[in-house]
Amino acid sequence: MSTGHVELARAQQERWQTAYEQHPHLHGTEPSVAAQWAAGVFGAAGIDDVLELGAGQGRDALFLARQGFSVHATDIIETALDQLRLDAQREGLDDRLTAALHDVRDPLPPADATVNAVFANLLLNMAFSRAELRSLVAEIRRVLRPGGLFVYAVWSSDDGCAAHWQELDDGLARKDGFVGRFFDEALIHDLSDRWRLDDATPYDEGPEPRRMWRVTLARSE
Ligand SMILES: C[S@@+](CC[C@H](N)C(=O)[O-])C[C@H]1O[C@@H](n2cnc3c(N)ncnc32)[C@H](O)[C@@H]1O
Repeated sequence: MSTGHVELARAQQERWQTAYEQHPHLHGTEPSVAAQWAAGVFGAAGIDDVLELGAGQGRDALFLARQGFSVHATDIIETALDQLRLDAQREGLDDRLTAALHDVRDPLPPADATVNAVFANLLLNMAFSRAELRSLVAEIRRVLRPGGLFVYAVWSSDDGCAAHWQELDDGLARKDGFVGRFFDEALIHDLSDRWRLDDATPYDEGPEPRRMWRVTLARSE
């Protein structure tokens, strides 16, 4: 990884830290559209435990726990996880919701083929290089059991605001200090190599609204 990329990643982490310190429910308390989809897909597959990556303050982890799933939520910002733990305790969900600090650029903690489902809303479109994205997706595949499911949601390159972001190297873009990536169909297919691609659906979410992709991958072997 280049020095520039390390600095960029560090600056992004600081921005998240500050944003979460200033807003106890930065992304609101309602579950994302993708989490509601994931609950249906995981439930239909008979799955009752979920590893959530980039969970933030846990609006989706809390929702999934309310639906009866056991959830292990991870994020790179401890302040966000503290809020998640507090809300889980307040709602009496702490028996099926755990949270731990983890940077997804590092190997995932679970052993090979031990996880039934992984969920990540608005994580893969953060400031990751393409190489980091590929290795994260390979890590997720490694920890999933055969037949396990990975549902993720990301910004779409068809979003109207993509044009207003400043282009950076490696397909990343910057606006107001935030760096991220808009996904096109080709990238979704590229990251689906060695997976069964069950679903890739565009949809709109939020008041603006934003154009997103919802993707469901299955570890087929
Ligand atoms: C757009 S927020 C989405 C939060 C949450 N999934 C939601 O929808 O409410 C992106 C999240 O990714 C986390 N994140 C960014 N880089 C990360 C990394 N390298 N490892 C783990 N989490 C990361 C941020 O801290 C932030 O909580």
